[in-house]
Amino acid sequence: MSTTYTIDRLGHLGDGIVADTGNGPLFAPGALPGEEVTGSPRSDVLTDLRIVTPAPVRVRPPCPHAKACGGCQLQHAAEDFVAEWKRDVVVAALAAHDLETPMRPVATSPARSRRRATFSARRTKSGALAGFHQKKSDTVVAVPGCLVVHPDLLAALPLAEALAVAGGSRKGELSVSVTRSDTGLDVSVTGGKPADAALRTTLADLARHHDLARLSWGVDETLERRPPRHRLGTADVVPPPGAFLQATPQGEAALQDAVLEATDGARRVADLFAGCGTFALPLAARAEVLAVEGSREMCAALDRGWRHGTGLRHVSTAARDLFRDSLTAEELSGFDAVAIDPPRAGAAAQMAQIAASDVARVAHVSCNPQTFARDCAALVRAGFRIDWVQVVDQFRWSTHVEIAAALSRA
Ligand SMILES: C[S@@+](CC[C@H](N)C(=O)[O-])C[C@H]1O[C@@H](n2cnc3c(N)ncnc32)[C@H](O)[C@@H]1O
Repeated sequence: MSTTYTIDRLGHLGDGIVADTGNGPLFAPGALPGEEVTGSPRSDVLTDLRIVTPAPVRVRPPCPHAKACGGCQLQHAAEDFVAEWKRDVVVAALAAHDLETPMRPVATSPARSRRRATFSARRTKSGALAGFHQKKSDTVVAVPGCLVVHPDLLAALPLAEALAVAGGSRKGELSVSVTRSDTGLDVSVTGGKPADAALRTTLADLARHHDLARLSWGVDETLERRPPRHRLGTADVVPPPGAFLQATPQGEAALQDAVLEATDGARRVADLFAGCGTFALPLAARAEVLAVEGSREMCAALDRGWRHGTGLRHVSTAARDLFRDSLTAEELSGFDAVAIDPPRAGAAAQMAQIAASDVARVAHVSCNPQTFARDCAALVRAGFRIDWVQVVDQFRWSTHVEIAAALSRA
């Protein structure tokens, strides 16, 4: 039976939520706060949903693929609303630890600016199809008009399909990660058949035909036509295939500015979870840096970039598992500041060591509001204050939240 409900808020996955139905919350996919909707509850989801009174912040999804594609969750909401919602998600996560802090305006990356994306590619009866997954499904949707990724990445969709034809298994799916480097596209494929001589020849032909900088097939095959370089500060870095890089150049610049500001004046900085040097290399223009990162290959890329960079102070790198073997409070002594950018799990063990050290400033970058708030709380308990927090939205139209923050203690 269809019933009328009013949406109270937006959940973490972008669904509208009716908070109190007497039977627990109800999730209303695609609905926005304040909207009056009708639908039939099935378990905790509202099905046959109809929007009766649209919210003023509801917009026509700008992307032609918004209905089918699962890549974006918030195409139907105005940009300012999404920015404010992401900011509120962070405020609420901090409030859950009794933390309050000045929030800076959200820095949202423009449309068509994503410089790395992973397409799914499948063989079909008539050839192959590459794109993103449909909402909550394994089905691949073609996305030639995607508004998120850079046009150079979209131009690689035919390549992804050709790769599936050449080396995809009949039932499986290729994961084709495409990164836009300063010297051309860097493509890294997983999920394909083992490369034999014929496939190697086809891969070489495809790399040449699409003028790729580099094409990697699985972990063993890499064809480098030009080193795929990324400018980080005054250094050029060639990341290993599939390495982490910030999602948009604008997001990367905003995070770098935030880290530089939060560590301003520091003469020795430890950059933890350093990747290929997104922060370490710009920091090295004015400070000595110790960059610690779990991946040996990324450390080596950072080190090579630094050795060929200009006007940089000393950067030492260490490949180390910071979850199991955090930098200790003693090892941190002598550092004026720490930049830390852990994966989604956060860095509870490492934060405990920073809390016990005499480090006075922390630039905290995070992609998870919950672990961000938990880790900030550990520092605040040790006498830090959160000076400011900024949401850097490199994942517009999605529910993903990226955060930069400055913490300091006297
Ligand atoms: C969010 S990325 C940040 C990278 C870098 N700061 C940047 O902005 O490009 C997190 C980094 O942590 C590294 N990482 C993941 N688990 C780790 C661990 N247990 N110990 C050390 N580094 C780890 C990943 O390889 C990745 O480079």
